[in-house]
Amino acid sequence: MKAIIPAAGLGTRFLPATRCMPKELLPVLNKPILQYVVEEALEPEGVDGVVIVNSHDKPEIERYFSVDENFENMLRSRGKDSAADEVHAAASLPVSFVYQDEPRGLGHAVHCAAEAVGDEPFFVLLGDYFVPDRQMCVRMEQVSREHNGASVIAVAPVPADQVSRYGIIAGECVGSLPGTDATGENEGAVWKISGLVEKPKPEDAPSHLFIVGRYLLSHRVMDLLATQTPGAGNEIQLTDSMERLLAEEDMYALVVDPDEGCDTGTPVAWAATNARMALSDPELAVAFREELGERGAALLG
Ligand code: G1P
Repeated sequence: MKAIIPAAGLGTRFLPATRCMPKELLPVLNKPILQYVVEEALEPEGVDGVVIVNSHDKPEIERYFSVDENFENMLRSRGKDSAADEVHAAASLPVSFVYQDEPRGLGHAVHCAAEAVGDEPFFVLLGDYFVPDRQMCVRMEQVSREHNGASVIAVAPVPADQVSRYGIIAGECVGSLPGTDATGENEGAVWKISGLVEKPKPEDAPSHLFIVGRYLLSHRVMDLLATQTPGAGNEIQLTDSMERLLAEEDMYALVVDPDEGCDTGTPVAWAATNARMALSDPELAVAFREELGERGAALLG
């Protein structure tokens, strides 16, 4: 089974930094954002490869995931073996590429990977967010197994005035993750989905549970995407094809704590994610506080 990561966007929120460098390769500490997402995608047992949906304008992404023996040898000849090992490990990840050269929406991006995923279910991981312990997709796979391999998406509660920024589900709580007794909108609750709507007005939202950006989907979604007409924002929406899938197949949602993951979608969120990743490692945390100095630490309050 493959995991798809859409990465063809322009990165406009990070301009001017992204004028000459893909947003996906911006680092969190010393590792590109995209590598965290790739490593998370490879964590579920069933996943044996990642398909990155790139645009031809960002060849640097493909280069990052390609082995460069000359470069590694140069590092080793200078005694930088652990750096060479890290470069080699990143370049050796099982990643392949397909291309989306027109920005026609998330559904269109996912459909670009139709051939690459073959006849199997697939994961989609949105690249503006990563889960450091990589367990969210693993739990989604667990829920899918419990429900005969059905599609499962991660959802979380969102304040009513923010529903129009997301995909929102309708449904009812039918159980919980094995080993928990969560109900309602609490972390670990499992819902059976009865409807999905992309970016509804607050008065039209069927619940307060939004689609977080982690999907495990039936291959049938690819067939539906092939005939999907544009929806919200005049874009081909993945949510709309999932809504159509409901007429044919059951679909479930796992309620997660979105703070389990780190947001890298805006410069401020990205900066906060860097701080969080530094502070969550005991050794780095000491160095980070030292670097902040008294003035920096005082700013944090
Ligand atoms: C996309 C999805 C939406 C989801 C959101 C999560 O929207 O279409 O359903 O809730 O990601 O970030 P976008 O952020 O691309 O507008």
